[in-house]
Amino acid sequence: MCGIVGYIGCEPAGPYLIDGLAKLEYRGYDSAGICLNDGKELVVKKAKGQLAVLKEMTDNGKSLSGTVGIGHTRWATHGEPSDVNAHPHLSESGRFAVVHNGIIENYQQLKDYLISKGVVFRSMTDTEVIAQLIEFYYHDSLIDTVIKVLGKLEGSYALGVISRENPDEIIAVRKESPLIIGLGEKENFIASDVTAILSKTRKIYRLENNEIAVLRRDSVKIINTDKEEVHKEVETVTWDVDAAEKGGYEHFMFKEIMEQPDAIRKTISPHIKNGRVVLDEIKLTHEQIKSFNKINIVACGSAYHVGVVAKYIFEKMLRIPVEADLASEFRYRDPIINDKVLTVVISQSGETADTKEAMKEAQRRGSYALSIVNVVGSAIAMESDDVIYTWAGPEISVATTKAYSTQLAVVYLLALYFGDILGTIVPDEYKALINQLESLPEKVQTVLGHKERLQYLASKFFNSKDIFFIGRNIDYALSLEGSLKLKEISYIHSEAYAAGELKHGTISLIEQGTPVIALVTHEELIGKIVSNIEEVKTRGAEVMCIACDTHPEIKDVAQTVFIPKVCDMLLPSLAVVPLQLFAYYVASLKGCDIDKPRNLAKSVTVE
Ligand code: AGP
Repeated sequence: MCGIVGYIGCEPAGPYLIDGLAKLEYRGYDSAGICLNDGKELVVKKAKGQLAVLKEMTDNGKSLSGTVGIGHTRWATHGEPSDVNAHPHLSESGRFAVVHNGIIENYQQLKDYLISKGVVFRSMTDTEVIAQLIEFYYHDSLIDTVIKVLGKLEGSYALGVISRENPDEIIAVRKESPLIIGLGEKENFIASDVTAILSKTRKIYRLENNEIAVLRRDSVKIINTDKEEVHKEVETVTWDVDAAEKGGYEHFMFKEIMEQPDAIRKTISPHIKNGRVVLDEIKLTHEQIKSFNKINIVACGSAYHVGVVAKYIFEKMLRIPVEADLASEFRYRDPIINDKVLTVVISQSGETADTKEAMKEAQRRGSYALSIVNVVGSAIAMESDDVIYTWAGPEISVATTKAYSTQLAVVYLLALYFGDILGTIVPDEYKALINQLESLPEKVQTVLGHKERLQYLASKFFNSKDIFFIGRNIDYALSLEGSLKLKEISYIHSEAYAAGELKHGTISLIEQGTPVIALVTHEELIGKIVSNIEEVKTRGAEVMCIACDTHPEIKDVAQTVFIPKVCDMLLPSLAVVPLQLFAYYVASLKGCDIDKPRNLAKSVTVE
C-alpha cells in the first residue's frame, strides 16, 4: 500500500518529508514524490523507482524551499509505475496538490465528467481525479470544497491536501486507509503509520473513518463531514520503529495474515456491482470465452496451489476441462495448446521467471493469456493479454498469505463471470454465491479469531520431524498450500497427500505419533476422509482436523479447528487461515526467521 507523509511547521519541510518517506519504504513502493508550498507555487518533485532517485533529484529534500508540504510512496493500483503517475498530483492549474492511499472505485465516471467539462488530465491514476475535483468545485474555502468532493468519492482513501493560496494549512482525511496526525511543538505531521513520525513525536491522533484533520503550525482541529468538531484523545506511541513497521505484530507474515479480510474485501468489492460480477478491465469477449474448450493454469509455488484449487472450482462450475501446471514443467513438455485454450497465469510478484516463460510458451502456441497478479506494471501483468489485479497491497513476508487469499478471490470472480456467460450457473445459484462472496471477509475474520487455538495445537507438533497434510477434492488442493507454508518457514519436512492415495504406498510412513493434518471441509466426501483418518489413527497417527462447524461430530474423530460453513467454492479461503496460523506458530516456537526463511526469495526471477 502507499505511504503518506506531511509536514507543517517552522523548519524546511523537504528534508523531513524525504526522511519520513524513507521510514515508509518497508511498505513496498514503485515511485515517490514530494510537494512543497514555497510561498508562491506548489513545487512537485517525483520519480519512478527507489527513493534514492528522489533524494538525488532534491538533494535529500534540501533543494526545495517551504515549511509546508506532503510526500508519498506509491504502490501502483491504477496506472503503471511512472514519473507522471507518481504522487503528489496537482490540479490542472497547479493550485492544489493531493497524495492518496486507497482506491477510488468510481474514478472513471468522475474523470469522464471532468473531461467533458474541459479538464485536462496528465496521469492514468484515480488520485488525480481528487485534485481536479477540488479545483473544479473550489470557490473560497478549501475545507468546504474537500468535504463536497468527499461526497462524490466511492472507495477507500487516506488523503493529504495542500493549496497554493494557503501555505498555513494541510487537510488530511481518512476513509478505510489508515492515517495518523503527529502532534509537535509549533509543527504537526500526517503519516500513513507511526514509523514516519516517531523521530519527531510520539503524540498522535489516529483518524477514524470520515474524520478530517485541519493542521496548522500551532493547532490541529478534527472535524467530521458535517464540520462538527470531534474530540480526540491524544495517544502516546510506545512502539519502537521495528514494531511499528509490523503494525505492532512480531512479523510481517502475521500482520499480512491478519490483513486478509481487508485484502479480500479490496479485491472483491470493485468487481461486484448491483449483484453482478464486473470485470471491466479485461478485453476478453464473450465470444472468445465461449470459444475456449479448455483452461490451462500455469504458476509456481503457492500460486500453483491456487491453480489446483481453481481446477476443481472451474471444472465443477464451468464444465470444461481444466489443467493446473507447474510452470517449470509446462514449458518443457511440448504442451498441446492452441487458440481454443485459455491460459490463466497466476503470480503475486508478476516477475517469476518460470511463470513468465510458461506464459510466453502458451502465447507462442496461440493461447490467450489472462494473468492474476498483485504487482501493477510487473512483467507478467504487462505481457499477458489481460490482467486482473489482486489488491493485497505489498506482501513483505517471503511466505505468501494475503496474496494467496486474494488470488483465490479472483478465481471465484472468474468462475462466476465465466459461468454466467457460459450459462452453467443458474440465476439463483449465482445470486447465492455472490451473497456468500460478499460476506467472505467477515467469515475470514471469524476464523482469525481462532488464533489462540492454533497456537496451542502448534505447541503439540512443533518438534515433529515429518507432518502430513491430507484431503480429498478441494481439500487436497488446499493441503498442498498447508504443507508448503509449514515447510518454507519452519523447515519441518511435510507432504500433502490425496487422502485416497495414502493406501497406495505413503501410509507405510505413518507410525506412532506421526502428525497428520486432515482437511475435512468438502461436504460430499466427509465420510471418505473420516475413513482415511481412522486408517492413519489405527497406525498411531496424531491427527488434527480442519472442519466446518456444521459437523461438530468431527471433534470426536480428532482434535478439530472449526470454520464457518460456506459453499464449497469458498471453503479454501476459510480453511487456509488455520493452516497459515499453524505454520506461523510452529515456526515461531522453533525460533525460525519467519519473514526471511533460509534459501528463499520473495520473487524467484531466475529459472
Ligand atoms: C509462497 O509462500 C512462496 N513464497 C513461493 O512458493 C511463491 O508462491 C512462488 O515463488 C510464486 O511466486 P509468485 O506468486 O510471485 O509468482
